[in-house]
Amino acid sequence: MSDLVAILGGTGQLGFGLAVRLAKAGVPVVIGSRDATRAQDAAERVVGLVPGSDVRGADNVEASAAATRVVVIAVPFASQASTIKSIQESLTEQHIVLDATVPLGPAIGGKPTQMVGVWQGSAAQQAQSLVPSGVRVVSGLHTLAADLLTDLDHDLDQDTFVCGDRKADKAVVIELLAKIDGLRVVDAGRLDQSRIVEGLTAMLIGINIRYKTHAGLQVVGLPSTA
Ligand SMILES: NC(=O)c1ccc[n+]([C@@H]2O[C@H](COP(=O)([O-])OP(=O)(O)OC[C@H]3O[C@@H](n4cnc5c(N)ncnc54)[C@H](OP(=O)(O)O)[C@@H]3O)[C@@H](O)[C@H]2O)c1
Repeated sequence: MSDLVAILGGTGQLGFGLAVRLAKAGVPVVIGSRDATRAQDAAERVVGLVPGSDVRGADNVEASAAATRVVVIAVPFASQASTIKSIQESLTEQHIVLDATVPLGPAIGGKPTQMVGVWQGSAAQQAQSLVPSGVRVVSGLHTLAADLLTDLDHDLDQDTFVCGDRKADKAVVIELLAKIDGLRVVDAGRLDQSRIVEGLTAMLIGINIRYKTHAGLQVVGLPSTA
């Protein structure tokens, strides 16, 4: 039996797509929302797409408390801090927070192809500054397009990059995300490297606008064991 993964913001685009892919991989998921009913509705939609999957919904506090190890944060940058503060008491040293937040321009009325400066250096480092002591943040998922995650007929065939300060935590996240068909997980270094990876999203959004597509990334030259 796999660990139960919480996805806060699983009612939205990226979190929902991730829930669909993890459910397809046989991973039990609890979708978190500010509104438990909205979370349950989203969970039912996932089960509709992946019959027989173990997906439930709960409010953010209950969802994060229920997670065995990994709590995913998939909310807009403008609500990242309030979301993490709202679950602080549910997080313990057993938890790894997998933060997908990208500090994009719309958080302050700017463009989605622009980044907002974050005092700590990146959204992931801001998340690390907000979680209780002993809880570790790993960042990832930034360059994945929600629409393609949700479309199970689409062969993902791309990389995602994870950043974190402890190898053991990244190993947990890498093992989890590698269960998703067609996704290779690349260790992109320590948490402060997340500043670079988060910026790739803004670049991809620009590419998507120009080419009318959902572009992704793949690193070449890695050993086949990666
Ligand atoms: N969309 C993508 O393709 C994609 C790709 C890579 C990275 N990302 C990053 O992933 C994060 C989520 O993106 P998204 O497109 O999935 O966002 P979204 O659909 O706009 O929102 C996700 C969820 O966040 C919660 N939320 C929204 N506004 C909130 C607020 N003011 N306060 C508290 N919670 C709020 C909502 O959940 P409840 O109302 O149910 O609480 C919502 O369903 C962002 O940081 C984004 O940059 C997105």
